[in-house]
Amino acid sequence: MKITILTGAGVSAESGLGTFRDAGGLWTQYDLNDVATPEGFARNPALVHDFYNARRANCAEASPNAAHEALAALAAGAHDVTLITQNIDDLHHRAGSPDVIHMHGELMRALCAQCDARWDAPLVMSPQDPCPACSAKATRPDVVWFGEIPYHMDAIAQAVATADLFVAIGTSAEVYPAAGLVELAQGQTLEINLEPSARANAFDAHRFGPATQVVPAWVAELR
Ligand code: APR
Repeated sequence: MKITILTGAGVSAESGLGTFRDAGGLWTQYDLNDVATPEGFARNPALVHDFYNARRANCAEASPNAAHEALAALAAGAHDVTLITQNIDDLHHRAGSPDVIHMHGELMRALCAQCDARWDAPLVMSPQDPCPACSAKATRPDVVWFGEIPYHMDAIAQAVATADLFVAIGTSAEVYPAAGLVELAQGQTLEINLEPSARANAFDAHRFGPATQVVPAWVAELR
């Protein structure tokens, strides 16, 4: 079966990485306009680097959980699996998932806003860091901010439209274009989440509960 999976922050919540919109979530602690927009970065790059440095440190201390591991095992099995994530953490990789499509970028990568060069980010980044390619002091996390276009959208739309099964895991479906991908699905659709998302009605089937319990059980049934 061709299975296309989209994950969100909920899949990493039980690894200790905060989600965005839940109680105590990142966007209840920080103003996203200050730390997750190009305008915020232009206004105060040090504030933005501090925010992502803290998330990078948190991610480096975290470990993949049973949901990440079950998805990696599924991809290693007989099904043709495409794994797309909105998450910028590297827990899918560390769980052994090959070829994860990061539509919102990667916390562990850096980007030069001047020449577009990309490289592995140091744990701590600062506005003084020169670009290794052009030496400009315009380095930023390689993360897609609000108002910017997500990466790999053509491949993502293709993978969703041609799937026999499209599954969204651990996302509130509040942010587009990710939240609209279910509309492109021509096969079966399944939502796995702690609770119904904002687009729950668009899915054929639902499974609710913590990702570390529901995802391994679902994968075991499939395998
Ligand atoms: N297991 C399963 N689902 C969970 C768990 C869990 N343990 N904990 C939380 N959830 C669910 C919540 O119910 C919520 O629906 O995960 C979802 C997290 O939603 P958000 O915090 O909105 O995160 P996400 O949907 O990934 O955000 C999308 O928004 O802020 C931007 O770019 C950022 O990629 C992010 C995008």
